[in-house]
Amino acid sequence: MHIDVNSAISAPLSAGDPARIGPYQLLGRLGTGGMGTVYLGVDGERQVAVKVVKRQYAVDEDFSQRFKTEVEHAQRVASFCTALVLDQGTTEDGRPYMVTEFIPGTPLDRQIASFGALEAGTLHGVAFGVAAALTAIHAAGLVHRDLKPANVILSMSGPRVIDFGIARAVDATHGHTETGEVVGSPGWWAPEQLQGRVVTPAVDVFTWGCLVGYAGNARHPFGEGDPMVLAHRVLESEPDLDGLPAPLDHLVRRALHKEPRHRPSAQELLLALVGGRDDPSTEVLAWDPPENIQPPARKRRKWPFAVLAGLVVLAAGLYLGFRDGTPSGSREQGRANDIGRRIVVRDVHIIVQRPHCLPAPTGSKNCAVTWLLINMGGATAPLGTYPQLIDDQGLTHTTTSARPPDQLMPGDSLSLTAQYTLPEGNVPAMLTGSPMAGGNETEVRL
Ligand SMILES: Nc1ncnc2c1ncn2[C@@H]1O[C@H](COP(=O)(O)OP(=O)(O)O)[C@@H](O)[C@H]1O
Ligand SMILES: [Mg+2]
Repeated sequence: MHIDVNSAISAPLSAGDPARIGPYQLLGRLGTGGMGTVYLGVDGERQVAVKVVKRQYAVDEDFSQRFKTEVEHAQRVASFCTALVLDQGTTEDGRPYMVTEFIPGTPLDRQIASFGALEAGTLHGVAFGVAAALTAIHAAGLVHRDLKPANVILSMSGPRVIDFGIARAVDATHGHTETGEVVGSPGWWAPEQLQGRVVTPAVDVFTWGCLVGYAGNARHPFGEGDPMVLAHRVLESEPDLDGLPAPLDHLVRRALHKEPRHRPSAQELLLALVGGRDDPSTEVLAWDPPENIQPPARKRRKWPFAVLAGLVVLAAGLYLGFRDGTPSGSREQGRANDIGRRIVVRDVHIIVQRPHCLPAPTGSKNCAVTWLLINMGGATAPLGTYPQLIDDQGLTHTTTSARPPDQLMPGDSLSLTAQYTLPEGNVPAMLTGSPMAGGNETEVRL
């Protein structure tokens, strides 16, 4: 297999990028996420990765706090399996940054996209290395929660798991993380994350299974599709693992058990992969973090509804800003918009996609907003009408689309698109309406 250790830079610096951050001269971009940008930098001879919060989030205290937590978490984890944290600071324009060792190598997603599935021996090594990293992460009292190919760098010293942006400390008094703030990237969630259930290290074991299946077959075990379709499959369908070599096929299947307590632990996977046992049979009934881990300070819960509903935060890990019958204007933690987030209204789960606007000939434009609904409950859900769209100038628009179906059967999902006509220069800002007939007014920020 070919691993290109020089292909790390994803893009050269662009005009808006700084030439330096702190004492580090920047050479190019390693990656750009929702919240920040990662640059390749040099400090004298040494190459480093500099992760910096985007300008628009610098003023937001919650983001800065989350970034600090990311640094703390990354520092906790044994450096053999992640990028060693070297430094941290604040840029001249007030943006927090973190400096880690630069890992020469190729992110797993890029490797698979460029060269296809890993061959059996390499796959086994990657499965082993990531299981070792997870064992170390869990031993440090953390759940990573965002294990996916872009966060695994194939390096000379084995796979390294990076990006503790949404990792959570396990609550040492209860042995689990809180429910309701479950995060991850579309397609890389465990069923219990989607259901808003308690999140334990078994979440990372599930995504290990997805990752190994993906690396071995160059296709995701739950296939392609929009977030809601993937979510449905993760909850309801069996994974497609055809063609995975033994014993990985068996281990991955165990890791992908829908019920977290039936999955092996990362350590059991590790032992099985060394050849000790390929049938880890332990049931994870509870998970106790090591005794030297302090319980994290509990934050005041500002959003009991949201917490109870088990809202899922997607992709960049931005938090859900959905309000069901709650007046807007209250602030939640660093919430930018609600695109791609799971919104729970009674039994119906909704994900709103990014609006797509096309210029119309008359100096106006047509914007289409699509959302996916799934009825997770046991009863037929009465649906409301299409919401109104409010643009950035405060104008309210009613859809020109025909009425949606008025009900959704249990277990069914539905993709709805509503068209709105806006003045050319205006931008969609919010949807308001009642997604459920007779339900509360809901606002979704676009
Ligand atoms: N220490 C590092 N060495 C090499 N590449 C890195 C390093 N840190 C990040 N990267 C690259 O930058 C990308 C984004 O970094 P990551 O920490 O995952 O940020 P984000 O929160 O935006 O996903 C990664 O997918 C990887 O390609
Ligand atoms: Mg990442």
